[in-house]
Amino acid sequence: MIEKLLTSMRGYAHENYVPIVRPETERILCSIIEKIKPKRMLELGAAIGYSAISFSRYIADDGIIITVERDEQRAAMARRNIAEANLTGKIRLIEDDALTLLRSMDNKVDIIFLDADKSHYIEYYEDCLRLLSDDGIIIADNVLFAGLVEKEGEVEHKHRTIVTNLRLFIKTVQADERVTSELLKTEDGIMIIRKKRK
Ligand SMILES: C[S@@+](CC[C@H](N)C(=O)[O-])C[C@H]1O[C@@H](n2cnc3c(N)ncnc32)[C@H](O)[C@@H]1O
Repeated sequence: MIEKLLTSMRGYAHENYVPIVRPETERILCSIIEKIKPKRMLELGAAIGYSAISFSRYIADDGIIITVERDEQRAAMARRNIAEANLTGKIRLIEDDALTLLRSMDNKVDIIFLDADKSHYIEYYEDCLRLLSDDGIIIADNVLFAGLVEKEGEVEHKHRTIVTNLRLFIKTVQADERVTSELLKTEDGIMIIRKKRK
């Protein structure tokens, strides 16, 4: 039943230009989530609820995914999809700005999935670390931004801020002695960040 809904959501997203997690990235993330079995997961950027519904299959039985979306229409559609999947007890959708939500949160989370505005990952980073449980991980999607982040030479004006900020995000994480990180070049680039054991 969930698989059928996910297939129809993927079709809707494709037809309506709603950006959702890419297939290979989805598979990698699902297998990471299945291993960790998080009790609390936070997603920044719900869109129509596709990834939250997909990930919910692998969290702990009593686990919860908190997901935030600032676009009113997408949030409404995500709410409908979550209800249709019978997952209102497992996925809490919040219609708000990601940074506002992050700054208001105190309880620790086991996985944070960064998938909202790519140029703000750098701003989300410190609050994500503050909220992350000791064994937790941060997963940031699209960090290579269609290859532009690693491409040499001039970046088109319309992409300059996002590329500059993603480069800064990657550099900051890689230089941060509190964490270890790996950058997977799969699809649009996935960064996985773990806190170092004390
Ligand atoms: C790539 S889509 C999310 C896709 C979703 N995670 C999935 O795979 O099904 C990014 C979403 O983040 C939302 N977004 C962007 N900036 C945001 C912000 N500052 N706060 C909340 N949502 C934001 C956008 O409206 C968009 O729907």
